[in-house]
Amino acid sequence: MLDANNIIMKKDIQNIETKLKELILNTKTTTKQKTVLDAMNYSIEAGGKRMRPVLIIEFCKMCGGRLEKALTTACAMEMIHTFSLIHDDLPAMDNDDYRRGKLSCHKAFNEAIAILAGDALSVHAFQVILNDNNLSNDIKINILKLLTHATGYEGMIGGQVIDIENESKNDITIDDLKAMYNKKTGALIASSCALGCIIADAPAHIIEKAYEYGINLGLAFQIIDDILDVTSSQEILGKPIGSDKEENKTTFVTILGIEEAKKQAKQTTENALKILQELPNNSFLIDLTKELLTRKK
Ligand code: IPE
Ligand code: IPE
Ligand code: MG
Ligand code: MG
Ligand code: MG
Repeated sequence: MLDANNIIMKKDIQNIETKLKELILNTKTTTKQKTVLDAMNYSIEAGGKRMRPVLIIEFCKMCGGRLEKALTTACAMEMIHTFSLIHDDLPAMDNDDYRRGKLSCHKAFNEAIAILAGDALSVHAFQVILNDNNLSNDIKINILKLLTHATGYEGMIGGQVIDIENESKNDITIDDLKAMYNKKTGALIASSCALGCIIADAPAHIIEKAYEYGINLGLAFQIIDDILDVTSSQEILGKPIGSDKEENKTTFVTILGIEEAKKQAKQTTENALKILQELPNNSFLIDLTKELLTRKK
């Protein structure tokens, strides 16, 4: 990544993390609620790449919108993503004991608290958007329409259901996988791109292009996640490797092998880059897209 873009990225992440603290830690708390707030903060503060909130901010900026307008929605997206990770790691799902370089939420606390912390993060996300004074009611409605759709049974949660049900099947095709990835991973990533544009009040054709870009980026992102599960290490990834095999997942790697999976990630990234070319002020996003293809974690 260019130095200048690296600086932009660091600044975005700093803004996101400062705002996340404000939005969760300032929640008025009673002693009874403390445990669940501790668990929410534990998983949020464990870190992660913050890619989805960065996309919201950068697509907003691309469309001429101000950072302040995007920041709360960006944090809301990170809350929903973190909720998905907490639940994804539970014994009933992928049964992984580490996440973001620390014990998974259910290991650091317990299963009941991890379920509740995920639930609480998911609703808190919608609450902070409703309470955001930087957005008009019309924009808030459009944000919530897209975000609820991307999160629910037609989006991320729907994809997770298919992922779990696929564990007992052995006739899954690449097209089946793509359709599932577009939901479990693509929905939040693509809607992050579109939300940035919606916040900046961009025209419909720009919002659609941003979404289409995000679907391609999300697919490449999940293919690389499949590859890293086989080729990386827990030290680098911050989560266990070999988890997919353990849970009998069919992935791009199990169907195609590592080399062909890498080619597919590259091709899908090129598709994403092609769409970006049709959008203005795209230099940061081009750099980020290329960077994500060669990511190590
Ligand atoms: C992990 O997402 C789950 C997938 C959709 C592959 P990330 O790789 O973005 O996780 P963090 O946020 O960096 O921890
Ligand atoms: C995760 O897919 C997708 C969501 C959490 C929605 P994975 O199960 O492959 O993600 P990791 O590898 O555990 O991060
Ligand atoms: Mg999973
Ligand atoms: Mg998992
Ligand atoms: Mg994975």
